Amino acid sequence: MPTHAFPDGFLWGVATSAFQIEGAPDADGRGESIWDRLAATPGRIEDGSDARVACDHYHRWREDLALVAQLGAGAYRFSVAWPRVLPNGTGAINARGLDFYDRLVDALLESRIRPFATLYHWDLPQALQDRGGWGARDTAHAFVEYAEAVSMRLGDRVHDWVTHNEPWCSATLGHEQGEHAPGHRDPAEALRAAHHLLLSHGWALPVLRRNSPDAAVGIVLNLVPGEPASPSEADREETRRFDGSFNRWYLDPLFRGRYPEDAVADRVKQGHLLPGPLPFLERGDLAAISAPIDFLGVNYYTRAVLRSEAVPESANAPRTVPRVPREERTEMGWEVHPRGLHDLLLRVQRDYQPGRVYITENGAAFADRPDAAGWVDDPRRVAFLRGHLAACARAIADGVPLAGYFHWSLLDNFEWAYGYSKRFGLVWVDYETQARTPKASFSAYREIISSNAVDAAP
Ligand code: FCB
Repeated sequence: MPTHAFPDGFLWGVATSAFQIEGAPDADGRGESIWDRLAATPGRIEDGSDARVACDHYHRWREDLALVAQLGAGAYRFSVAWPRVLPNGTGAINARGLDFYDRLVDALLESRIRPFATLYHWDLPQALQDRGGWGARDTAHAFVEYAEAVSMRLGDRVHDWVTHNEPWCSATLGHEQGEHAPGHRDPAEALRAAHHLLLSHGWALPVLRRNSPDAAVGIVLNLVPGEPASPSEADREETRRFDGSFNRWYLDPLFRGRYPEDAVADRVKQGHLLPGPLPFLERGDLAAISAPIDFLGVNYYTRAVLRSEAVPESANAPRTVPRVPREERTEMGWEVHPRGLHDLLLRVQRDYQPGRVYITENGAAFADRPDAAGWVDDPRRVAFLRGHLAACARAIADGVPLAGYFHWSLLDNFEWAYGYSKRFGLVWVDYETQARTPKASFSAYREIISSNAVDAAP
């Protein structure tokens, strides 16, 4: 197998998010989030679970950071829970909530692990939802207040900031498809939410830069390359439509300062927007949204193959993933397709030229469990990791300024509407005992990190 070497200084990391691992929803003055509310609503989480305990990371964080250190990772991407910092969304800062992240950051730095802090990974304070949530422009103002509170406290030590994680999911899964919190099915509200998420990103940039002077600031998008299932006009049109609403709806405002005209026209045709000026757009918004960022974070899980008459196969996946054999899919039903990552990175570079890119998430759910001896062999995750890293190496060779890779995820955790039924971790979590067991993929990744290279075909 050929060896793909990575450039010196390539950043190796793992990613998690607050709601999925922390638990401790009532500890130290934390407020309620929209995900607490959704998970407490019968029928919303596939396995009937909630995240009140999750991985109990709020209490076991030292053990978890020891795992990151054991992996040899140079960076750790985590998110800050807004309801810990501002339990009512705005107003009084809860210092005890910030203390948790303060300790976490110090411990990371002691281990020479670079903290990448994500401000928003979907856990909006319920108090803000009660005032309109992301559908309301005021929530963008509230986000700036929150960004100020967090960066005032951590900005001297955190030098890498992500404003938002996957605004498409917050907006569309949360407000249009109803699968994520707040569980609405209102396409017009989803478009407003998308805009306010982007706007809050733009407004937070100067705040983060002021409070964290040498910081690099970016946003994380989940991008899904679309390919037509056939060369037919109809499939190509479906692919354009998918790309417009999924990828370009975010990339274009961020990098070009405008919404994609064709995708806006699609929304008008669908009756989600009235013809004419976008109702949520105010003067200066697009300039704020398109202010330069220091990096783009790309989360890549799969591609979409578009058929004009496709049947949705998985609600949480691109609507039109083709029927590939089970062996080529993860437990999420997502096709394993490393080449898509290479092609996506090249396309983003060609069309938008971000100065620096990180893969901020990439990973796979597989169900492998401990054998009698307690060993978790997860060969498909190892193959997934190698294949996608080879794609990264090829993208770098082709000129993409890819500076690092974060595997999703360090631990098995609460996978949103799927509960604990999907396991993405390099480390197995026994939810009864909270014991952590590194899987075979953990060792494989450690080996890759220490050699700064991956053996993989092609
Ligand atoms: C991404 C999310 C992350 C995790 C992975 C599997 O969309 O950012 O929290 O759920 O998918």
